[in-house]
Amino acid sequence: MILKKVLFLSLTCMLLAACQSSQKEEQKTSIRIGISLYRGDDTFINNIRSVLEEKAKEYERERGIKVTLDIQDAKGSQNTQNNQVERFISLGCDVLCINPVDRMDASVMIDRAMAAKVPVVFFNRQPVEEDMNRWDQLYYIGVDAKETAVLQGQMVVELYKKQPGAVDLNGDGVISYVLLEGESSHQDSLIRTEWSIQTLKDGGVPIEKIAGGIANWERSQASAMMEQWLDAYGDTIELVVSNNDDMALGAIDALDREGIQGVNVIGIDGTTPGIEALKSGKLLGTVSANKELYASAIMELAASCAMKGELPREYPLTDGTYYWTPQEILIHELED
Ligand code: GAL
Repeated sequence: MILKKVLFLSLTCMLLAACQSSQKEEQKTSIRIGISLYRGDDTFINNIRSVLEEKAKEYERERGIKVTLDIQDAKGSQNTQNNQVERFISLGCDVLCINPVDRMDASVMIDRAMAAKVPVVFFNRQPVEEDMNRWDQLYYIGVDAKETAVLQGQMVVELYKKQPGAVDLNGDGVISYVLLEGESSHQDSLIRTEWSIQTLKDGGVPIEKIAGGIANWERSQASAMMEQWLDAYGDTIELVVSNNDDMALGAIDALDREGIQGVNVIGIDGTTPGIEALKSGKLLGTVSANKELYASAIMELAASCAMKGELPREYPLTDGTYYWTPQEILIHELED
């Protein structure tokens, strides 16, 4: 019995010590963070990257600890990203922040990190649960996809209730929409699609799908797709539902080229160009992830792992692992 208690106690102590310093260890004065982005040319990821760089400087100023960010672009190759992880570890990075290329294939990176005892903060592309459960030094920061989608749908539901004519442009009692989807392998694409359409239906908006397709989050792909739809369906399209802002902007590019005005386009992310389009009225609305909190959570969590300190309380972790960033609806106010 006593033995069992002692064993239990020591296990608890080990768990509590997870990210905490052993008393003898000297306080670090500098930390090195290895960051790998799935693609450096992704607009949303670039927005997060800029805020993260600011947060690192802020951390350095406020805590007097030198922070080195080593940021690498994996250019869409998992193999390249695996090599980057290898290099970060050999350079002595204290913690890794990884935006995985292939979220189903994070195991090689996790193996390396575990062997070297270097904690990992994944973000935006969520590794599968089985991988996340392999070690208590693996974290994930992202946005809740269902919440995003419900907010996106609600934007149109509210507008339809207030001003049906602003949504049902030709007044035939049906809102004809096209749908632009992100990468099929991304955890958020399917959920965003499913729940934004479901929310429109649940909210009593009479919708009819004209066409839909995968444009991989990309503005140019979405623009080409929208151009085809405009050729095929012309002005029957009243609403463009897009899984992100960049594809929404691609649809707007195609509408602009054809000189078509008034079609409602909705996106997700609240990127810098997305917000510009919202201000000018070209984008009806977006669901914006709070970039400040998103990037601060990455920075604070990574730094506390690197410093072997306590995890930051301002960023509560679900199951001790996941931080879900708050998000909000941004909508262009239409005139009555
Ligand atoms: C999504 C975001 C997209 C794209 C993608 C990359 O969350 O909405 O715009 O950045 O992540 O993984």
